[in-house]
Amino acid sequence: MKSDRIVEVNNLEVRFRLDNGVVVNAVKGVSFHITKGETLALVGESGSGKSVTAMTLMRLTEYAGAEITGGSMQLRKNNGQVVELRDQPSSVMQDIRGADISMIFQEPMTSLNPVLTIGSQISEAIIRHQHKRKKDAWKVALEMLQFVRVPEAEKRMKQYPHNLSGGMRQRAMIAMALCCRPSLMIADEPTTALDVTIQAQMLDLMKLLQKEIGMSVLFITHDMGVVAEIADRICVMLRGEIVEQGDVYEIFEKPTHPYTKALLAAVPRLGSMSDKDQPEKFPILKMRDTFELQRRQ
Ligand SMILES: Nc1ncnc2c1ncn2[C@@H]1O[C@H](COP(=O)(O)OP(=O)(O)OP(=O)(O)O)[C@@H](O)[C@H]1O
Ligand SMILES: [Mg+2]
Repeated sequence: MKSDRIVEVNNLEVRFRLDNGVVVNAVKGVSFHITKGETLALVGESGSGKSVTAMTLMRLTEYAGAEITGGSMQLRKNNGQVVELRDQPSSVMQDIRGADISMIFQEPMTSLNPVLTIGSQISEAIIRHQHKRKKDAWKVALEMLQFVRVPEAEKRMKQYPHNLSGGMRQRAMIAMALCCRPSLMIADEPTTALDVTIQAQMLDLMKLLQKEIGMSVLFITHDMGVVAEIADRICVMLRGEIVEQGDVYEIFEKPTHPYTKALLAAVPRLGSMSDKDQPEKFPILKMRDTFELQRRQ
C-alpha cells in the first residue's frame, strides 16, 4: 500500500444468504482507497451497498449474517502498522474499532447509551481504548466535549442523552467517536435527519475537526449538495458496484456514467437560485428517476 494511504480496498465481495436460501450480492468487486486527511464520499441510491461496504470495513456485517467472499481491505493503523482487516481475529477487530476506525450514524442514539451520562460513556471508551484511570479519562472526555464545541460542557458531562438537543447529541456522538483520535472516521448519513441549519453547522464542525486531527473520513450520503460541501473525491455506487470514482471537481464538471449524470442533474446549477427569495435544500434524486434510468440502460 502506498505510504500516504490509510485504507485500500480491492475487489471486495460481500453477500448475504437469507433464510429462504436466496443469496444477495450486496457488494460486487468494490475497489477504492483513502489517503491521509482526505474525505471520500460514497454516494448512490438506497440499497446500492454503501452501508454494507462501510460496515464490512469495520467487520460488522458478519454479525448480520454476511460473508466476505473475496477481495482485501488493508488499513494503516494509528501506529503505522498495515494490517489486512479480513484476517484479523475478532478480539483485534474490537481494538481497531474505536481506536483506529470509528463510526458515526444518522441517529445518535444508536451509539449513545440512554442510561449512562454523557461523561461516563465517553470516559468509558477512553478507559477501554487508552487504558487511562477513571479520573484522567473524565478529564479527557470533558476536553473532547469542549473540542466539539458543546457549550457548558462540564454540566453536559453529568446529563443523560435525553437531556440534550438533537444537535448536541450529534456532537456528543462525534466526541465519543473522536476520543481515541482514529485515523479513519466513517460517517453514515450523519446529517440526513437534521434540519438544514444544524446540518450546515455539523458539516463545518466536521471539516474543522478533521483539519485539527488530520484524520481521513469516509462520508456516506445521498445528497450531492453535501458531497460538494465536504468531499475531496467521490465513489458512485449502483447495485453493489462502483460505477464511477474520482476527484469531486472533475466528476461534478464531467460525469461519465449515466447514473452519475442523473444524480448531478438534480443539483441546481450555479445562479439558478437568483430568482428565489429563500434558500432551498438540494433535491434528492427520486427513486422513480432511478428506475427509469435502469430501464434505459
Ligand atoms: N442484514 C441484511 N440481510 C440481508 N440483506 C441485507 C442486509 N443488510 C443489507 N442487505 C442488502 O444489501 C444491499 C445493500 O444494502 P445497504 O444497506 O448497503 O444499502 P445502502 O446503499 O446503505 O442504502 P441506504 O441509502 O438506504 O442506507 C441491499 O440489497 C440490502 O437489501
Ligand atoms: Mg445505508
